[in-house]
Amino acid sequence: MSEKPFISIEGIAKRFGAQVVFEDVHFGVRQGEFVALIGHSGCGKTTILNVLAGLDQPDSGAVLVGNDAISGPSLDRAVIFQSHALLPWLSAIGNISFAVRSRWPKWDGEAVRSHCQRYIDLVGLTGAETKRPAQLSGGMKQRVGIARALAIHPKMLLMDEPFSALDALTRGVLQDEVLRLCAATHQTVFMITHDVDEAILLADRIVLMTNGPYAKVAEIVVNTLPRERSRHDVHKHPHYYRIRNHIVDFLVERSRRFDEDRPRDYDPMHPPEVRPGLGEPPPPAPLRAVT
Ligand SMILES: Nc1ncnc2c1ncn2[C@@H]1O[C@H](COP(=O)(O)OP(=O)(O)OP(=O)(O)O)[C@@H](O)[C@H]1O
Ligand SMILES: [Mg+2]
Repeated sequence: MSEKPFISIEGIAKRFGAQVVFEDVHFGVRQGEFVALIGHSGCGKTTILNVLAGLDQPDSGAVLVGNDAISGPSLDRAVIFQSHALLPWLSAIGNISFAVRSRWPKWDGEAVRSHCQRYIDLVGLTGAETKRPAQLSGGMKQRVGIARALAIHPKMLLMDEPFSALDALTRGVLQDEVLRLCAATHQTVFMITHDVDEAILLADRIVLMTNGPYAKVAEIVVNTLPRERSRHDVHKHPHYYRIRNHIVDFLVERSRRFDEDRPRDYDPMHPPEVRPGLGEPPPPAPLRAVT
């Protein structure tokens, strides 16, 4: 994994009317890395993902891929939305081939079909190729969305709470599949989630955002669990609950009073990277005057 980020978020800020949603947001995602973003509702996570996708623009700052600022959507960055966003009049395989044909317009029908079938099979939808979205369950629709995103071989996969609308069982199965597919293809991923366990299972680093308005990146948690991990045994690792407790403590306590309590040397351009799994103590809370 190279140290230079594949995508660099450099000091972006976004305002809607008089409300500054976030500002001074800096982080990067390296090639082959899986980065998750966690923060409370309304802190601007979807807006950040839309900026990364090229669907929205920051009011200041820039997002760089290599040396170039993102100027619009690209097939290099595929998005998996919270709700599947499939074309309702096309079958499962039709939805995937629509994207594949945009990516490789010169491919003949057979090349497109066999490529799409491979991704249908990979996400466990064999047999459901010709069904339209209305004939598929929520989990199956989300699988089509995942297959469609992966089939165009994006340089980066962007996911906005991709499993949050699913029941726990389906969510678990799909998390396993994404873990397996991303490990096999060394896919670079940026994912938003509200689910701490999901972030620890899937991500190499977890970006923690403070509450809005004026949200920013408080710190970045490095996941020190072995990369070969599974949903069934990850919680048995000694690092697991340290990482989990650290993130939950952030969400419950530190995310809302970050501006009052932040360490004096905090620099939003270089949010601290922490490794709670190794037993490092959390950043010190400043002493408060007793009133
Ligand atoms: N197009 C828009 N016009 C006005 N305000 C907007 C717009 N899009 C988002 N906002 C506001 O910006 C803030 C951040 O929205 P965003 O959807 O990015 O939050 P989020 O962190 O993804 O929240 P959630 O966890 O609920 O999905 C919210 O206060 C929202 O109301
Ligand atoms: Mg959102």
